[in-house]
Amino acid sequence: MFPKDFLWGVATSSYQIEGAAYEDGKGKSIWDTFCEEPGRVNNGDHGLIANDHYHRYADDVALMKSLGAQAYRFSISWPRLFPNGDEVREDRGFDFYHKLIDELEKDGIEPVLTLYHWDLPQALQDKGGWANRDIVKAFEYYAQEVAKEFGHRVKRFSPINEPWVVAWLGYGMGVHAPGIQDVGQAVAASHHTVMAHNAALKAIKRVAPTALVGPVLNQAMPDVDDVFDPEQIHAAKVMDAQQNLFWMDGIFRGEYPELAWEMYGDHLKKVVQPGDLEVVENDWLGINYYFNARIGHRVSKDHFSRARVIDQLMDYAVEAQSQGPLTDMGWPVTPYGIGDLLVRWTREYGSLVPQMFITENGCAYQTGLDANGVVDDQQRIAYLNDHLYSVGDAISRGADIGGYFQWSLMDNFEWAEGYDKRFGIVYVDFDTQERIPKESAKFYSQVIKTSGANLTVRQSKVS
Ligand code: NOJ
Repeated sequence: MFPKDFLWGVATSSYQIEGAAYEDGKGKSIWDTFCEEPGRVNNGDHGLIANDHYHRYADDVALMKSLGAQAYRFSISWPRLFPNGDEVREDRGFDFYHKLIDELEKDGIEPVLTLYHWDLPQALQDKGGWANRDIVKAFEYYAQEVAKEFGHRVKRFSPINEPWVVAWLGYGMGVHAPGIQDVGQAVAASHHTVMAHNAALKAIKRVAPTALVGPVLNQAMPDVDDVFDPEQIHAAKVMDAQQNLFWMDGIFRGEYPELAWEMYGDHLKKVVQPGDLEVVENDWLGINYYFNARIGHRVSKDHFSRARVIDQLMDYAVEAQSQGPLTDMGWPVTPYGIGDLLVRWTREYGSLVPQMFITENGCAYQTGLDANGVVDDQQRIAYLNDHLYSVGDAISRGADIGGYFQWSLMDNFEWAEGYDKRFGIVYVDFDTQERIPKESAKFYSQVIKTSGANLTVRQSKVS
């Protein structure tokens, strides 16, 4: 099923694992601020220490090597390199990532670099953050400097991780930093992430012409309970436009879907200026896939008014989380969706979408150590098996897929959920910082070793 040169990797992000929040000149990020605000993060958890990866990176790379990982997708902390989000650099921040890449090179693991995985310098948020158009210039400069420094050592770059989450969880629903609830700001941030992606891509390629750059989008297919219900069908289209097509069309076609203009109205008209949208040449598309969105309840006619559409979307999300077998995040298990998405983009975008990668996929289950010190996480094994099988199946159906990155190498800081939600294939004891590979790590190692020959048709119950 999987081609010979398929890249098998694991993924993490800076704020979720590094710790050392104020070490070696690092500036404050919006997540440092958010964690200080009472009630924002479960248990009052924070990233001050996290997995202490800043000091343990060499051991963590050795761990990846022992699992057989061929690539490592990680992110750079913007405020570690530019503490105030301006042009004043902190060399010790750059040194840290050089040392990390040294270790990866030594072990033959390919670094795949994300520029922004949500830890915005607080100084930039003080000026409005992603809701302020000026972010595009600031991000372009940051991207250029990262590419100048690491362009000869790193082949694949992605500018922004999950722009939908940046805009809607950060500025719309306010459940992520900076914790703002304002539809206008969320729409502005959505647009600015598209512009910033394009500007960063061009900046990276200017200084590192051989770099391969692509967006990383969190995507889901809408699952409709009743395909003969026009209201559900409409709701599915709204969800699809809001989460998937805004960035797919914005980035790959240089235009926003009709429905986005319709539902965002003046919010969008106000922020889009002539010439803002363009088609830049992306080298790949990264997809973070966790679950499909279930559209299952009837909606009243009047919800189609613009202002209410956003509320309604949140209702669908709640609905989606309350049915079928769920992970600890309350997310349904829908392995068919990952394959459907890959086949769908192949058919709908053709050559506009180059090679695809699954840049994240995984699940949270609490499973801890048993009496023998083993973490026997069979549910995660089933989840990974079924999703990987679906990816393999999409390849047979004609999708061009370059690799898969499991989320996550190890348990870590799961944003507003804190440390209770464990996504790792390696268990972390946060008191001692001990790392213990779970049974799923052994399973994934075998997947890598056999190129997926150990996958079986389907293990999880799918509703
Ligand atoms: C996507 C995000 O990129 C990552 O940071 C997060 O931990 C996982 N989803 C799980 O929620």
